[in-house]
Amino acid sequence: MKSFNIQALKKPFNIVIDNIASDKSISHRCAMFSLLSNEPSHIKNFLTAEDTLNTLSIVEQLGATVERDDSTVTITPPKELVEPKDILDCGNSGTAMRLFCGFLSSLEGSFVLTGDKYLNIRPMNRVSVPLKSIGAYIDGRENGNKAPLFIKGAALESFVYESPVDSAQVKSAMILAALRAKGNSKYKENELTRDHTERMLSGMGASIRTNDQGFIEISPLEKPLKPLDITVPTDPSSAFFFATAAAIVPGSSVTIKNVTLNPTRIEAYKVLQRMGADVEFIENQNVYEPIGDIIVKHKKLEAVTVGENISWLIDELPALSIAMSQAKGTSLVKNAKELRVKESDRIKSVVNNLDLCGIKYNEFDDGYEVIGGSLKKAKIDSNGDHRIAMSFSIAGLLCGMDINDTDCILTSFPNFEELLKELEK
Ligand code: S3P
Repeated sequence: MKSFNIQALKKPFNIVIDNIASDKSISHRCAMFSLLSNEPSHIKNFLTAEDTLNTLSIVEQLGATVERDDSTVTITPPKELVEPKDILDCGNSGTAMRLFCGFLSSLEGSFVLTGDKYLNIRPMNRVSVPLKSIGAYIDGRENGNKAPLFIKGAALESFVYESPVDSAQVKSAMILAALRAKGNSKYKENELTRDHTERMLSGMGASIRTNDQGFIEISPLEKPLKPLDITVPTDPSSAFFFATAAAIVPGSSVTIKNVTLNPTRIEAYKVLQRMGADVEFIENQNVYEPIGDIIVKHKKLEAVTVGENISWLIDELPALSIAMSQAKGTSLVKNAKELRVKESDRIKSVVNNLDLCGIKYNEFDDGYEVIGGSLKKAKIDSNGDHRIAMSFSIAGLLCGMDINDTDCILTSFPNFEELLKELEK
């Protein structure tokens, strides 16, 4: 098992980074959605991390041909999708497992989805229950709540579904199911979650629109979709570790190039701004999504409360908690119970590790308070959660840090360690 020994930085950094990992959510979707066309899709800057490579392998097991040339992946879909000869391994990825549930439910054949020890204890009822209610056959441990999951393709009914959980994974699974259902379907969420699925599928020609009552209306596919020809932008959630580093290390700044500026993905940067950091967004492209550069510069940070649009922040809250630990006053995270069912229980992982670093906190069922203070070097346990390992590595830039079990970083950000070393130069 790999570990990191982070040294405190001796001086501030001012850096432009143009090779942060590509967007994970968009890369998963590129691989999967290419199967909805009958022509090859060309995907430049596909994220070559464990999670998205697993999705690519599943796409191959379903009959697609995948060619990789430098930074471009070409996916040629088969004439007919095939029933895989083996189990489909989603590794650590909830996105892969939940989206494939929606995608596979209406395909002819039998499929077994599994994952690593962390994914196989995460709740799948949020997708299996609504899918079963429209005719899907999904079974697994706890009646289909825990993987390994067994899916047998079935004809799906159309639906009107108001989701009790604000989750882009659930929304995407249901949209994918709706594309092959018997009639028009409608899906509603309380608060808008990341909308890559809607943007990409409508860009490929699917009929998906949001009506005045906030329902997403989806019509079944009448013909194959247009293929994708896309350059995947930088992942704002991965880039946020370096944004946090610039915000907490006095005198530092970072420019992050070619990031998706989709409003559902950059809320954490806006929270940093509210805390007092200098943050600038420079939009310069639009391909399915607004794309541009983000510049973050250190300024003294003030405490903040976050409790709305939590799904827009969910992946960044661990790093944001490190910024909160360096802010003056008590910061509060509320309405964030979803953190408990991520790659680890992120409320526990954050507060227990902050505690080891000498930061005072209060834990609640749906969030926590962080009382700004002075970080001290500690031995951190990542709990196998990539975002915990990376967040506390960033904290280590101030005081040094020993982090156990850092292999998980490879699920989303393979060159994280290399980029961290750049800050010392
Ligand atoms: C994702 C959705 C979010 C996010 C995850 C990626 C996606 O999960 O936390 O990292 O690509 O759809 P939820 O939909 O469970 O909130």
